[in-house]
Amino acid sequence: MQQAGPIGIFDSGYGGLTVLREIVQQLPDYDYLYLGDNARAPYGTRSFEMVYQYTLECVNWLFSQGCSLIILACNTASAKALRSIQQRDLVPGTDKRVLGVIRPTAEVIGNYSQTTKVGILGTPGTIASESYPIEIKKFFPDVQVFQEACPMWVPLIENNEQDSPGADLFVERHISNLLHRSPGIDTILLGCTHYPLLMDKIRAHTPADVRIIAQGEIVASSLADYLRRHPVQEMLCSRGGQRRFFTTDSAGEFDRQAGAFFGQPVQSTHITL
Ligand code: DGL
Repeated sequence: MQQAGPIGIFDSGYGGLTVLREIVQQLPDYDYLYLGDNARAPYGTRSFEMVYQYTLECVNWLFSQGCSLIILACNTASAKALRSIQQRDLVPGTDKRVLGVIRPTAEVIGNYSQTTKVGILGTPGTIASESYPIEIKKFFPDVQVFQEACPMWVPLIENNEQDSPGADLFVERHISNLLHRSPGIDTILLGCTHYPLLMDKIRAHTPADVRIIAQGEIVASSLADYLRRHPVQEMLCSRGGQRRFFTTDSAGEFDRQAGAFFGQPVQSTHITL
C-alpha cells in the first residue's frame, strides 16, 4: 500500500480554486495539491480527444506527486475525460482514484427545485456531452433539464474581464436565452467552476425568485461523505493542513489572479508536463 499523500485538485485553470476554497473550509486538516493547466485553458471548446489527453497528463502528474485521490474540479474534464480515465487508465486493484464534479452535483440538484425545472449553464464541451441531463435523470427522473452553453464566459474570466461591461453583455445574453427556452425553471446550476466569479452579474440578470447554485459546497460535502464511506482511501490522504499550488503557465500571473477564486493569496510554482 502506498504512503499517505495530498488530495489532488485539478482544473484547466483557476476555476477549480472555487471548489478547493469550499473543500478546505469543510475539510481543513487534509493536505491539498492544486494543479491548473492554465497554459492550455480553456478546455471548454476543445475536442474530446484533447480534453482527455490533457486531463490524463495532469492526473498522471498529480499521481507522480504522491496523490492517491484526485478530484477533477472541472466540469469539462469531468464530462469529457473522467469516464475514459476511470475505465482505461486506472489500474484495477490499486489505491488510485479519480472523481469528478458532475455526479455529486446531479445527485442533489433536484432537491433545490420546486417546479422540477432546472437550468444548467456550462462550457460548450460540458453542454454538448449531455452529462448533466443524463446524470440528473438517474437521480431525479421527473426533473426537466434545460441547458445553455456560454462559450465566452471562461475566456472572459481567465482574462480578468469578469467585472467589465463586456461581461454584462455575454451574461445577459445567455441568461435570457435560457429563461426564454424554459419558463418555469426556479433553479440555475453554474455547471462550470469558473462561473462563481460572475455571480454578481448572473444574479443581476436573473429574476430574484430563481435560485442560483454554485458547486463548491456540494462537491465539498460529497468529498467529506466519500472519505467517511471509504476509510482505506481516507487513510491515504495526509493530514498536515498544507496547500500547494502548481500551474503549467506563469506562476506570477497565477498568483495575481488566483486570489479572486480562492479567496486568499496564493503562491504557486510553475511546472512543465
Ligand atoms: N472550470 C472549467 C469547467 O468547470 C472550465 C473549463 C474550461 O477550461 O473551459 O468546466
